[in-house]
Amino acid sequence: MPELRIDALAFGGDAVGRLDGKVVFVPYAAPGDTIEIEIVEERPSYSRARIVRLLEPGEGRREPACSLFGACGGCHWQMVDYALQIASKQAIFKRSMTEAAVERVHAISGAPTELGYRRRCRMHWEVSGGEVQLGYYRRGSRELLDAPVCPLLVQPLQLAVDRVREALKGLGRAKGTVAANADLTGQRAHISVRIDEGEAAAASALTRSLDGSPELAGGQVVHNRRASRFGAEWINLRLSEEDPLWGSAVTFAQANLEQDRLLRRRLEQWAKPLEGARVLELFAGVGNLTRAFASAAAEVVAVESFPACATLLRHNAPDVRVIQGDAVATLKKLAGERFDLVVLDPPREGCAAAAPHIATLAPRTVLYVSCDPMTLARDIRLLAKHGLAPRRAQALDMMPQTYHIEAIAQLGD
Ligand SMILES: C[S@@+](CC[C@H](N)C(=O)[O-])C[C@H]1O[C@@H](n2cnc3c(N)ncnc32)[C@H](O)[C@@H]1O
Repeated sequence: MPELRIDALAFGGDAVGRLDGKVVFVPYAAPGDTIEIEIVEERPSYSRARIVRLLEPGEGRREPACSLFGACGGCHWQMVDYALQIASKQAIFKRSMTEAAVERVHAISGAPTELGYRRRCRMHWEVSGGEVQLGYYRRGSRELLDAPVCPLLVQPLQLAVDRVREALKGLGRAKGTVAANADLTGQRAHISVRIDEGEAAAASALTRSLDGSPELAGGQVVHNRRASRFGAEWINLRLSEEDPLWGSAVTFAQANLEQDRLLRRRLEQWAKPLEGARVLELFAGVGNLTRAFASAAAEVVAVESFPACATLLRHNAPDVRVIQGDAVATLKKLAGERFDLVVLDPPREGCAAAAPHIATLAPRTVLYVSCDPMTLARDIRLLAKHGLAPRRAQALDMMPQTYHIEAIAQLGD
């Protein structure tokens, strides 16, 4: 069996080393490890391998916090120190931003807590003969892995998931998903349980069982596209009761409350000066970022396609003109208008199709919030071709223990 020394962690989660000059990707290996490997896939430019034996651990290697680590598809890097996770994210981010010719890459901002931070989750469940499995998919598969405890979740979210597990025991044969968002002010959660396979009676039984639970602010049980709602319709996604941001189990929320606050602060700083500015925000969600610039700007137009988000966006940012629709289709309709600032926060796949349309709005500045440095780099290159110079970028760690990298980039002035 060949021996391999691991050089670094890579985007996507695997570690990388070189064997006779050829790149080898190995899951669950840590930088500095010397390992015995078995090649499981050969490609012309790289190979994939698995660890057969750890011969010499790297300096940053540690015991993972979760007993399911290695089987569960949720986490990738629990086996390395948090400082090394952060350094690895910075190296990956810096490389992709440098390749996209970004003038200045700021230091990454690490998360204050590396466990117990996730305030939003989506899990799968299956019940058979009173036995409940509720958890995530196994790594690289669609096979359900029961996860009675997830150390990444904030406590109110874990308690809400426990409550759902209890309620599911009462069902016959059924399977589906559960999505939950935590209300940290109320220390409860909002949940949406979807039954994909199961009797209609299961939906009413489940709704009755969940309604009134102290762990749940409210939510819904969905069967055959029919939703039975209970409790509160919305929850507060902020810690402040004076300045709430309303959301629900099915609307997007940044996974990490503290890092979300930092992201909004950075956006506010980089958006300046806003006095008299016309702002266009694409992929606005329920208005989480919108409020970082809405009060100072002269006019804000916010675009969001998901109806449940657009409804809450109107509520959360009443002075903003909300357009419910697809970002690119809306950009085409806005052709000929002028905006000083364009803010966008697309899903992982980025927004390549938007670049030429954004450029025609002649913005002074574009602020791009991203959860994928690879699509961010691609889109920065596209925007740069249209005269928007990539000025600066910063990564912040929204999701410790995973390879995911959240970032903000500024183009233009
Ligand atoms: C990453 S979230 C960002 C939300 C918000 N900025 C925040 O911080 O909570 C992306 C949002 O884009 C919306 N979205 C996805 N595809 C879209 C599209 N083609 N056009 C407009 N909005 C879209 C999603 O519904 C989601 O609310």
